[in-house]
Amino acid sequence: MIVSNRGPLSFTTDDRGDLVARRGAGGLVSGLAPLMTGAEATWIASAISDGDRLAAGRGTMEAEGLRARLLAIDPETYRQAYDLVSNETLWFIHHGLYDLPRAPAFNGDFRDAWLAYRRLNERFAGAVAEDAPHGAVVLVQDYHLALMGHHLATDRPDLATVHFTHTPFAPPDWLGVLPDQVASEYLSGMAAFNACGFHTQRWADEFLANCRPRLVSPPRTFVSPLPADIDDARQTAASPACAAALAEIEQQVGDRRVIGRSDRIELSKNLVRGFLAYDDLLSRYPEWREQVVFVASVYPSRQGVADYVRYQDEVEDAVARINERWANPSWQPVILYTSDDYPRSVALLRRADVLLVNPIRDGLNLVAKEGALVNERDAVLCLSPEAGVWAELGAHALELQPFDVAGTADTLDRALRMPADDRRARATALREVVESRRPADWLADQMAAATG
Ligand code: G6P
Repeated sequence: MIVSNRGPLSFTTDDRGDLVARRGAGGLVSGLAPLMTGAEATWIASAISDGDRLAAGRGTMEAEGLRARLLAIDPETYRQAYDLVSNETLWFIHHGLYDLPRAPAFNGDFRDAWLAYRRLNERFAGAVAEDAPHGAVVLVQDYHLALMGHHLATDRPDLATVHFTHTPFAPPDWLGVLPDQVASEYLSGMAAFNACGFHTQRWADEFLANCRPRLVSPPRTFVSPLPADIDDARQTAASPACAAALAEIEQQVGDRRVIGRSDRIELSKNLVRGFLAYDDLLSRYPEWREQVVFVASVYPSRQGVADYVRYQDEVEDAVARINERWANPSWQPVILYTSDDYPRSVALLRRADVLLVNPIRDGLNLVAKEGALVNERDAVLCLSPEAGVWAELGAHALELQPFDVAGTADTLDRALRMPADDRRARATALREVVESRRPADWLADQMAAATG
């Protein structure tokens, strides 16, 4: 069984009110869904849309070769668990996003939300306990579902359970921002699984460093970075939609160099400092004016969280300021796309001469891998070591420090100037690393950890 918040299928209703199933969104689904197709596995996930809620009422559904059971959680419980606990608290703690003099303030609403998070985890564990065959392997994904381990260990000790964290893991000082009881419950929930997986050794070590002082006896841990879905990325790159998007980008940038980025509009991705670094580049390296275009294909995320909505405004303001400052009738320095359009993002990854991946902190970062796979111009990867993918790709990337705006500008300049043979050698090495692992390897690592 696979268990995650976002499911492999999402449902809508057609004109006649019949349910129509579509493949769900996100890297986890695109990587795992092909492996699950036709397999003896059930995927349990939250019912998110209205269509999903209808589907949830019908029990386990089969579509697109997948077997999924969606759980319709009471909407207020879901909002508290997903928005307040998962996104506004756990995500912020693991990525170090709090402005500590101001936030967080764990008031009574948070206590209620934590109870909702507990209820949601209990509900998921109950569904697994009902459906799982004797001795099944259960692979639970991410911080939304950290407490399920307790219930499964008590109610179904026959199961082999794994929890996989897709985010970074907070060092003890950061996790210590949570109320003690919450931090300990979160850790011991994870420790109740048979094994816990992470994208890099660094995050696994942080998890273990948190367990010791809280006297939580840790489970087996393992490290297995999520591979890019190579077939999906290359199919998209070869699609007519991608060709059309590339033609549009080409038409706008002409033969100028392109600095590209593709991300969700998400605080941890550090979009604003990326634009400030470009502004600094244009200011201190005047030779790049009119020679370079920064193309960003970014799309809104988690619109239920006020900080994210504000951040999108900050991103748009930063871009508007740069364009006002530098544009002339024949050159627009930044082109910003803000809708979720995967073929266009892939088109940009194909066309970029430099790929900027500068997160404050990131569990892995699949964009860096997808860029290496589809790029056609030996793009130089400018990468923050705070991304989990640094462990795999750092040796062939240019390092930048995410808070050092001037330093990032210097790195962009170095990337733009890099001689062709150096670019080619790095791009080839990046591609070889990315091609060396497939989603099936990641799944096999989890299966091995479950029973190991
Ligand atoms: C990214 C992270 C995952 C996380 C997901 C949730 O992909 O790497 O750790 O589960 O975002 O995003 P969502 O839109 O479902 O809140």
